[in-house]
Amino acid sequence: MTDLSSLTNDKLWLAPLAGYTDAAFRQLCKLHGADVLVSEMVSADGLSRETKKTLQYVFFDPAERPYGIQLFGSVPDVLAKAAEICLDFEPDFIDLNMGCPVRKVVKRGAGCSLMKNPALAALIVDEVRSALAEKCCLGVKFRSGWSEGSLNYLEFGLALEEAGADFLCLHARTQTQMFSGAADWSQIGRLKQRLRIPLIGNGDVKTPEDAQRLRTETGCDSVMIGRGALGKPWLFDQIKQLERSGDYRPATRDLLLETVFQHIDLALRYKPEHVVTREMRSQLCFYTKGLVGGSELRQAINHAENTARIKEIISASEAFRL
Ligand SMILES: Cc1cc2nc3c(=O)[nH]c(=O)nc-3n(C[C@H](O)[C@H](O)[C@H](O)COP(=O)(O)O)c2cc1C
Repeated sequence: MTDLSSLTNDKLWLAPLAGYTDAAFRQLCKLHGADVLVSEMVSADGLSRETKKTLQYVFFDPAERPYGIQLFGSVPDVLAKAAEICLDFEPDFIDLNMGCPVRKVVKRGAGCSLMKNPALAALIVDEVRSALAEKCCLGVKFRSGWSEGSLNYLEFGLALEEAGADFLCLHARTQTQMFSGAADWSQIGRLKQRLRIPLIGNGDVKTPEDAQRLRTETGCDSVMIGRGALGKPWLFDQIKQLERSGDYRPATRDLLLETVFQHIDLALRYKPEHVVTREMRSQLCFYTKGLVGGSELRQAINHAENTARIKEIISASEAFRL
């Protein structure tokens, strides 16, 4: 089994972001300093039926290690079976999603819905733990609670620890908040004080200074970054620079251009040209945010027929040259 400290001891995690953190973006973040990567959430139902589409989400490149597969579902033996299937791919850990707030997930009793039923959540951890035996680490990612009036992250986290989780990750927001408002980092600090197992802190880390503050204010073992890394995968490197030397190099236009090209080239290794052309549109929204002339640039990119054309548009763009 992978040494737990290689996952949790002062590591920088790239958060799972469905629709964004595919193999290309994960590897890009790794090249720019991310330590631990995890898949987009994978349906345990789909996996236990071994559908081809679901299996695609489980695939990872050895270069991505240490790497985890995140599962969502609500039925203990289905999740246990899915975890067993994952073992064939030899991930470093399995992560259980108990934090997704999205309607189509919670209405099936999965994701954050499990926070309303801590006994079922603990049973899931117990069964998945048994299925994994000592072959693979097990983590759970969850939120502060369902709503402001039902904050149960402390009892919930302690129950999952008791049920056999090796580490936990808290995104300090409720389901009803979705992604709005501010993450309440004091909750991460409070949970950290009560747990014996490592805790990953998550929510609203957008700058190197944020990452440093999250660590020092809460004592969390590692920091997970999601939206802050979109269009800025170099954030991980900057966090490490700040930690080492007290300062970091600001991103330059050269770095931006080089990273966008690197992203496109990596994406083409894993997906067909027409899919990359379509998917790069949303990724490029983040890379071009705030650039003068960014909106015209995005319009042109949205009409590009292939990735070579996207590269041409970007190379010729004033926005990238300023
Ligand atoms: C577009 C999008 C997709 C997400 N997909 C997942 C997912 O598949 N699994 C998961 O546990 N969390 C998912 N999340 C939540 C993030 O992992 C993270 O917890 C949240 O965005 C807060 O962290 P941040 O402020 O650093 O982004 C998603 C969030 C966004 C915005």
